[in-house]
Amino acid sequence: MPVPLHTTGKASFDDIYDRPDPRAYYARMSDLDYRIPELAKPFFQQQIRQYRASARVTAPTVLDIGCSYGINAALLRFDTTMRGLVGHYDADSDRAGLIRRDRARLDAHTGPTDVRFLGMDASRPALDYAHEAGLLHEVVHADLESGEPTDEQRAVLATADLVVSTGCVGYVTEKTLARVATAHPRRRPWMAHFVLRMYDFAPIAAELAALGYRTEQAPGLYEQRRFASDAERTQVLNTLSARGIDTTGREDAGWLYAALYLSRPLPKYHADTEDPH
Ligand SMILES: C[S@@+](CC[C@H](N)C(=O)[O-])C[C@H]1O[C@@H](n2cnc3c(N)ncnc32)[C@H](O)[C@@H]1O
Repeated sequence: MPVPLHTTGKASFDDIYDRPDPRAYYARMSDLDYRIPELAKPFFQQQIRQYRASARVTAPTVLDIGCSYGINAALLRFDTTMRGLVGHYDADSDRAGLIRRDRARLDAHTGPTDVRFLGMDASRPALDYAHEAGLLHEVVHADLESGEPTDEQRAVLATADLVVSTGCVGYVTEKTLARVATAHPRRRPWMAHFVLRMYDFAPIAAELAALGYRTEQAPGLYEQRRFASDAERTQVLNTLSARGIDTTGREDAGWLYAALYLSRPLPKYHADTEDPH
């Protein structure tokens, strides 16, 4: 069966985003050599270290937007690779068994316990899995493209120190990121987003600038995954060419590439300017 495409020309994987457990997700991502979360991991670790040093907090709270089954949290907390996670979830077990295994692995693991992980996603089953497995400490089930967070959701989002994402910008735009950025009335979280080159980050950077952020594109481009079909490749190459992006040796060699955007608030929005009580 041909891989369905979104209107953007990118392949649609909507059918594997809301299964009760992550097995189909990892199997499909493995077929496509999906690797952006693994390439993102050292950058997220660096941001966490820098946040900890600059804000003098020992246990920062990281919010993963479009977290799905807690992929970024699993990479960090199990201290493993994408291949490791694909192997871990290639298991002949029911959902309850998978959750027990994840919880046991987290209990046994000596990884970074000094980070609190939050996840937000539009998929309830994926969030439920990640939360029940213990990968995410708290979750927010919301689609902030279509409306404001509830007061309860805003209160959770407001605790974020660092907001990260992989494979999510495109699904979410400046609408979601502005709502997350302003969840706290004064304090703005840092942000680190890996964004496919077919999506323009300029409207997001402009919206964040109006909220007191400076955005920089980090050096380098990062392989996200292989194209899912010839049709996807053709459409994405057309989109990139229309945006004036040179794809030589990159997308035209068969891979989708992402760039990393780092957005930090001006000092008056930093954590340490917050009221002491
Ligand atoms: C390509 S997956 C990326 C998952 C994970 N971050 C990774 O890199 O493996 C995109 C995720 O975005 C979620 N998503 C789509 N639209 C969304 C929205 N409006 N708000 C929040 N999440 C959304 C989907 O449910 C899905 O889990």
